[in-house]
Amino acid sequence: MALEVAPAEEGDIDRLMEIQFSAFESDPYHDALFPGDHYAPSTRKAAGDRTIMEWRQDPSARFIKCTDRESGVILGYAKWNFYETERPREEWAKSPEVDWYSGRKKEIAENFLGATAAMRQKLWGGDPHYLLNILCVHKDHHRRGAGTMLVQWGVVRAERLGLRSCLEASPAGYPLYLRLGFRQVDTVVVKAADWDGSFDRHYIVMLKQPEEFTSVTAHER
Ligand SMILES: CC(C)(COP(=O)(O)OP(=O)(O)OC[C@H]1O[C@@H](n2cnc3c(N)ncnc32)[C@H](O)[C@@H]1OP(=O)(O)O)[C@@H](O)C(=O)NCCC(=O)NCCS
Repeated sequence: MALEVAPAEEGDIDRLMEIQFSAFESDPYHDALFPGDHYAPSTRKAAGDRTIMEWRQDPSARFIKCTDRESGVILGYAKWNFYETERPREEWAKSPEVDWYSGRKKEIAENFLGATAAMRQKLWGGDPHYLLNILCVHKDHHRRGAGTMLVQWGVVRAERLGLRSCLEASPAGYPLYLRLGFRQVDTVVVKAADWDGSFDRHYIVMLKQPEEFTSVTAHER
């Protein structure tokens, strides 16, 4: 069945949240970002509202969806950030702030988000690049090519401008990115002691240079 990728619309938000909560069902990172009972409509509504707010406020954000042409069902979505020009330090050097938790949970969530943010600041800083920020496909529709199409959509556009594509891979996403030519440049380690006391979480930082580029210049400040 043919799949297609197109810009998502705000009216798609309920389905996008359904997809996101299904894809990240057992992911503690997702729980830090979107707390609450995953199946409660109020949790999804709150998540959808916050996503829409970020969507409207962030001019670099591109929300795209992958749809089954025949049935019209949205299978997955991605959020890319297009950073096409050099950004000022006050824009990229900000620490993430969590206002959806308080107390210890807020501390844990900020620590978690802070680990990723610190890595992005160290490696990419204000340099132009495209960032794959969210990628999720509904669990009922895995392994049909939707994830690949949503990644390729951004990579092709980055390459047209001679820009690199960057991401932090979950274990589920890693083989897909590797297959598409991304390579590992670093690892974000989130200490379990600060999280749930079990194993440390590793997110592989990956990069795909446009074809004509041969060397990586890590951003150092
Ligand atoms: C990671 C994720 C987005 C992949 O989505 P997906 O739509 O299943 O991805 P694809 O179908 O394009 O590719 C997945 C695999 O299916 C294979 N595949 C693609 N089309 C296929 C088809 N028609 N038939 C059989 N296999 C197929 C691909 O070759 C790929 O194999 P690989 O993992 O060995 O590389 C999805 O598993 C997901 O949402 N996971 C949870 C959230 C998550 O971790 N997101 C990534 C955050 S970094």
